[in-house]
Amino acid sequence: MDTYEVAVERSRKLEEDILKNPKRHRVLTGDRPTGKLHIGHYFGSLQNRVKLSKLGVPTCILIADYQVLTDHDAFDKISQNTKELVIDYIAAGIEPSEDVIIFPHSYIPEANQLMLPFLTLVSNAELSRNPTVKEEIQAAGLKSVNAGMYTYPIHQACDILFCKGDVVPVGKDQLPHLEMTRNIARRFNDKFAKKNPIFPEPEALLSKTPSIAGLDGNQKMSKSRNNAIYLSNTEDETAKLIKKAKTDSQRIITFDPVNRPEVANLLSLISLCTDESPEAIAERIGEGGGGMLKKTLTEAINEELRPLRQRRAELEKDPAYIKSVLNDGIKRAREMAVETLDEVRSAMNMEI
Ligand code: TRP
Repeated sequence: MDTYEVAVERSRKLEEDILKNPKRHRVLTGDRPTGKLHIGHYFGSLQNRVKLSKLGVPTCILIADYQVLTDHDAFDKISQNTKELVIDYIAAGIEPSEDVIIFPHSYIPEANQLMLPFLTLVSNAELSRNPTVKEEIQAAGLKSVNAGMYTYPIHQACDILFCKGDVVPVGKDQLPHLEMTRNIARRFNDKFAKKNPIFPEPEALLSKTPSIAGLDGNQKMSKSRNNAIYLSNTEDETAKLIKKAKTDSQRIITFDPVNRPEVANLLSLISLCTDESPEAIAERIGEGGGGMLKKTLTEAINEELRPLRQRRAELEKDPAYIKSVLNDGIKRAREMAVETLDEVRSAMNMEI
């Protein structure tokens, strides 16, 4: 496996080429429908997706509804969560079109069918070595692990390769899955399509926003840790959440990520909203202390999210539109999947 530094360098080169030739690439990204999105998603991935789609890069946003079943028993909210995701995406600035589509992978049978040949290109040992899968098994405290958990990285290759996505904006934790997708693409081409390779070897586009900690200061922001501010929260709810955020006992505000991680995280969040450096913000607040810090953050977040939240509220009132976005996305995704599956059949000598 490549080192992280190699992945970072590749990601940087890819970014350069995207800026020069946006139309020559295709972005494929995805989320599991496990709930509404929070500001960690917003600064960490949503803003970047919006930027890429606005640059004119064809963009497929996939909702990984089958993948939810790998570590969750509950399935009662999958449909509702899928729609919440669509609302969050559009409110954040994704504009669905012929070239920018949103769809759940469970609706694309021809993409799912790639799973069968792909399963034969990967060994059991490779699957059980995947560090992200191991961490997820631990984090979910699973007593018994279903086969979907070990094999979902192969399914993720189907997600990426059915539309020949070559740019996958992800965080560091997804790099082992990207490596698996690249291996599958290469092995398929080598074995079945030597003369006319079918699949690109996709690259990770790594997020530049450092991982955002929750309001408790020292853990990743996430739903399960109950430390998040949601895009869907009202301004008052946001103020209340930030009031309870952890700080420390020193009065004067300084930016010191090592010794004062909680205060530094709140300053970084303000900085993401205002584009001012965290040091300058700390200087300005100074003697104002924790109270002023929280007030500044509340205003910054509420201001940053105001248009998004307005749009979100309107979209919530229009379920027919949300459904039509998904239907259009499914239709377009299936066209691509049918074409790819035809090529795969032909390469594998399975045509009748
Ligand atoms: N595994 C990803 C996650 O847990 C979700 C995902 C599914 C995905 N299919 C994908 C991400 C394809 C990128 C590309 O967040």
